[in-house]
Amino acid sequence: PNVRSTHTDAVGFFGRTTPEELVAAFGSPLYVYSEALLRKRCRDMKALSSHPGFFVNYSAKANTNLSLLRIVREEGLVVDAMSPGEIHVNKAAGFTPDQILYVCNNVSEAELANAVSHGLLVSVDSLSQLDTLGRVNRGGKVMVRFNPGIGAGHHQKVVTAGKATKFGVDPSDASLAELRAILAGHEMTLTGINQHIGSLFLEPEGYVAAADFLLSVAEKFDTVEVIDFGGGFGIPYRKYEDQPRLDLAATAERLHALISGWSERTGYKGRFYIEPGRYVVAECGLLLGTVHATKNNGPTRYVGTDLGFNVLARPVMYDAHHDIEVYRTGGSPDAALHPQTVVGNICESGDIMAKERLLPAVQEGDILGVLDAGAYGYAMSSTYNQRLRPAEVLIGLDGQPRLIRRREELSDLMALFPDA
Ligand code: LLP
Repeated sequence: PNVRSTHTDAVGFFGRTTPEELVAAFGSPLYVYSEALLRKRCRDMKALSSHPGFFVNYSAKANTNLSLLRIVREEGLVVDAMSPGEIHVNKAAGFTPDQILYVCNNVSEAELANAVSHGLLVSVDSLSQLDTLGRVNRGGKVMVRFNPGIGAGHHQKVVTAGKATKFGVDPSDASLAELRAILAGHEMTLTGINQHIGSLFLEPEGYVAAADFLLSVAEKFDTVEVIDFGGGFGIPYRKYEDQPRLDLAATAERLHALISGWSERTGYKGRFYIEPGRYVVAECGLLLGTVHATKNNGPTRYVGTDLGFNVLARPVMYDAHHDIEVYRTGGSPDAALHPQTVVGNICESGDIMAKERLLPAVQEGDILGVLDAGAYGYAMSSTYNQRLRPAEVLIGLDGQPRLIRRREELSDLMALFPDA
């Protein structure tokens, strides 16, 4: 019952329920996930190569909901972790130590020791951290993250390689010599190498070129058994403008040819990882919110909602675009589109979900659906202004919704105060 439902209708997102029913049953704002789409995206990534040692290492930072992690595991993906919390949740989801890769950055010796004690292979991203790991894992295996010197990403804040970032070890000869000396000093074996150039590419070229570069580094060490090319596979956030999708067939052709050709030439029998987060979970997640107020201020039409940056930070943090659909109980919004600025309920003027967005004339009581919110949505939410984090619901393969994380309660906020 809405005029902007082309996308979710086309993919049957809501199954046997509707946005209105979901908000009535589970409250607002609400994260809603589609099991069917999640499983499809896992399979899309696995199909990128049929090479025997090819693994999809889901980057859990994008979404760590326990029920979603279990589905990802059922689909045969492995997982990364970058904090003790992510290790904990990944293990609870049933991943075994050999299925969890610790890809961390600037962490304490105690944290490295914790990852080692869980039996995980740890990737360090500086020679200083390599030395620290050597102290807690003498004689053990290690993985090193390199900086291939080329970065990519939808925003400067998510470009994670190149000279202007904090990530990775410089692959120059001098630096590699130092690396070998540290390995020898702690009798450690360089079991793996990895990189992550940045987030959200829609053309495979840069990724494949960086992968090629990492393989040239791998050839300099005969102990490498795990080569991890990183994530960054983009999704089309502008579905209403028919933004093209990443061409999976072309990406598969390039990637598969690269790794099978290189393995044949070098006799490599180890594993290859790709590490997508966003591609796996972004599109299977949608954020529902409610319109509580509308007003004109000068030339601007404001739509006031419960969708503040405490719930979804991406638009405020990266100027990120998320498509928005309008749902109206017992009716259909007018088909004509008008520029409207969708804002949240946080006490900051920058609390803007969408600026001058063309939408049907929105009214109080309407429900908005913010698309592609499954990645870095709930995961980056906060309790700013002491607002409670939303609930999460999964629409199962039977089309029925099921609560997979309860809404926070006031007692959750108070639980951390020793003086309460
Ligand atoms: N591997 C490593 C080491 C990473 O740092 C990341 C993401 C990934 C894999 C997965 O990247 P993906 O496939 O999801 O692009 N919060 C930002 C994105 C930050 C990504 C950080 N690292 C956003 O909402 O756009």
